[in-house]
Amino acid sequence: MSVKLLLSLVVCGFFALHSALIKAADLDAGKELYERFCARCHGTDGRSGLPQAADLAGGRKLLRSDRQLRERIEAGKGLCPSYRGLMQPRGFDNLISYIRTLR
Ligand code: HEC
Repeated sequence: MSVKLLLSLVVCGFFALHSALIKAADLDAGKELYERFCARCHGTDGRSGLPQAADLAGGRKLLRSDRQLRERIEAGKGLCPSYRGLMQPRGFDNLISYIRTLR
């Protein structure tokens, strides 16, 4: 095996591992944001919060694109506060990915 081939295998392996780790970290970061900002009303499981708060675990409220969901979270609705400018775009991505895991 040539050194060049070996080197490119090592580099590919590194990136594959790296992106796998980033994926795992995303949900953790999203969970942290969710628990910090949303759980007090929506419940840690998305459904056991305030009676008026939308059920986020049922999935019905999540039947839209990430972008639409993000616009809704940024805008707020009724008692649901506006979170515009509070998080980096990446924070929203993490948060939304995490909410989609609530069942
Ligand atoms: C102060 C309590 C409160 C907090 C904090 C809160 N929500 Fe809400 N949320 C609500 C209530 C109440 C509703 C129902 C609003 C309505 O339909 O009038 C709601 C509705 C929603 C909806 C459905 C909106 C729609 O289009 O019907 C989503 C999605 C949502 N919240 C996400 C979040 C996320 C994500 C966070 C944290 C970043 C969060 N909420 C924080 C109370 C809250």
